[in-house]
Order: sequence, then structure tokens, then C-alpha cells
Amino acid sequence: MTARDPYLLTPGPATTAAATKTAMLRDWGSWDGDFKAITARVRDRLLAVAEADDDYTCVPIQGSGTFAVEAALGTLVPAGGKALVLANGAYGKRAAETMARIGRDFELYATAEDTPPDPAEVDRILAADPAIGHVLLIHCETTSGILNPLEAIARVVSARGRALILDAMSTFGALPIATAALGIAAVISSANKCLEGVPGMGFVIARKADLKAAAGNAHSLSLDLADQWSYMEKSGQWRFTPPTHVVAALDVALDLHAAEGGTAARGARYAANHRAVVDGLRALGIEPHIPDALQSPIIVTFRCPEDPAFAFQPFYDRLKAEGFIIYPGKMTAAETFRIGCIGTLTPAVMDEVVAAVGRVLAALGVARRNAA
Ligand SMILES: Cc1ncc(COP(=O)(O)O)c(C=O)c1O
Repeated sequence: MTARDPYLLTPGPATTAAATKTAMLRDWGSWDGDFKAITARVRDRLLAVAEADDDYTCVPIQGSGTFAVEAALGTLVPAGGKALVLANGAYGKRAAETMARIGRDFELYATAEDTPPDPAEVDRILAADPAIGHVLLIHCETTSGILNPLEAIARVVSARGRALILDAMSTFGALPIATAALGIAAVISSANKCLEGVPGMGFVIARKADLKAAAGNAHSLSLDLADQWSYMEKSGQWRFTPPTHVVAALDVALDLHAAEGGTAARGARYAANHRAVVDGLRALGIEPHIPDALQSPIIVTFRCPEDPAFAFQPFYDRLKAEGFIIYPGKMTAAETFRIGCIGTLTPAVMDEVVAAVGRVLAALGVARRNAA
């Protein structure tokens, strides 16, 4: 094992800065003015990152990203409503499963894991079914790392007068999301991915008018975003125990995000990380699964070497011993592993990862890599 903590080459929780971890070394009273001020500041700064205007508010919610997705769907899509779910991976499928579980009607438009949804097809589906009020799009489908066409889909959804709910879990803070300009109804994300906070809370950026109209819609008490919002507006407090340390850490993580130069600079660092790992592993004969043109800079899916000496678990264990925690593949169509480019990683760290992969493949006796 290395002396340092391992780097997390994962799609979150990601490697965080020392200052972010240190922010958690204090206890906060959830009702206390100092903590309320942190909550208010974090909400305002998340709205700014989302490029939202005064029509919007930010509602934080306890739990992981999935809790925030369920809260958004259950609150914004009324019981008699219907949504179109665009799925090209596990998180799109999970959104559809959520709709089924909470008893909301939906249509599924599924494409292959390496194929983005076609805006023209979305337009056709919306034209054919006036009952569809909402469309759920996953910005980066973290299953594969594919980047879906946000702007084109947002334009189609707006032109048809429907509401777009964007799962920006793995892009928020690293790729620009022009919430107000694109007329996006709701943007969902969490603290522990590109914002480089720690896990324990998600948030939804939504129009105040929509939240007001959504009072009473939610299928769940604890995941009722409209209630969480109105209580927070009245009292400055969270309904139910807040993840105080997580909120304090996100406040510092947002300082670091701003100091780095905001979303553009963070996205540029991740893109440089992405280039370093893709170029480096390609030189070792390991090819990404998704074509470069469709790939996000967030996480890369690589095809496993086609050599019988290769097996994921020993590969993982040896890389961990070198100080790098990678991620298993989640594709259904191919044997893959994933390398995340987010967190406090830099291109120099990615070069170290590539060197470690080279050593591990040699130690495992893997000679045959994959075909380009
Ligand atoms: C696009 C997307 N949506 C939803 C989720 C679910 O978030 P969580 O695992 O925090 O519940 C993830 C997690 O990786 C994700 O990448």
C-alpha cells in the first residue's frame, strides 16, 4: 500500500481537497443562525453555478443523488401526469424504475448505451402524445460516460411547451448548464461529484412557480420538495435533521470551485485529465468503448484486454495497492472498466495512473490488449 490515501478514480464520491475534509471538523446546531447562513449561502451559490435567474430556487435534500431524483420526479410530475424518460444507461433506467415505483405514468425512449437520444424522435413522441408533460434527460450517462445532447433536447422540449427535468448528477459544476436560458424546469445534482464535496446531500434547482403549483403532489413525506422548500423559506432550516457536516464541506468545496475559476476551469481540468488517461491507456493498447466525439470528460469506459490473463478483480486489487481505486464497468454490452476523471485529480495524477496500469498488466502477464 502507498503511504497516501488512494486516489478515487470513480464517478463519486470523488477525491476531495484537504480544506473540504477539514470543514467537517466542527459540529453545527441545525437550527442555529450560523448553520442557517451556510445553508442559505450554499443554495445561492448553487443557483449561480446553474446559471439560474430569480424565477428559480435551489432546494437541497438529504440523501444520495437517487433521493434527489426521486424527490424531483415525485414532486414535479403530478399523480395524473406523464413523463417521457430518455434512457441510454443505468441511470435512465433507474429513473424509469422510480416512476414505476411511485406510480407515475411514463413512456420510455431507450437507446443503446453508446447511442444518444435523437432530438427528432423526442419531438415526434411529444407531438404524438399531448399527455406527456415532462421529459427526463440524463446529461452525462455515467454508466458509460456518454454525453447526451442537452441543448438540442431542451430546444425540442421547450418548443413543444413541455418541462425538461435534467439529471445533471455527474456534470453539475464541470459542464455548463444554462438553466434559465434553456428554460430547463429542474436540474438535479449532488454534492459529491464535480462540485468535489462529500456524499450525503442532493439538490434540485426548480422554478418557484412550479414548486408552488406542486404542493401536495409528492408520493412521500421525506422526499417532498415543495414542503422542503416552503419550510426552508419560512424558517431557514431544513425539514428533518440536515447533514450538517456535508453542507459545511460543500460550502468550502464551492469556495474552491470559485477559486479554480468556476465551471469552465473545472471542466477544463477534467478534460485535461480525460485526455491524459485516454491517450496513455491507448498507448498501452486499451481502447475506450465510447467514440471520442460522444464521450464526456467525466468518466471513461475502457474495454477490458481480450487476454485470458486479464481479470477485473486482480487488476483492481493491484491498482489499489499502487494507490488508485478504479471503478468496475456497468455496461451490459461489453466487458469494461471505468476510470473517473473528476475530484481533485490532475493530469499528472492521470499519468501516474497510466504508468501503474502498465506495471499491473505486465505483472498479470496480460500481453494481448484490445483491438483499436
Ligand atoms: C447520472 C446519475 N444519476 C443518478 C445517480 C445516482 O446518484 P447516487 O448514486 O448518489 O444515488 C448517479 C450516480 O452516479 C449518476 O451518475
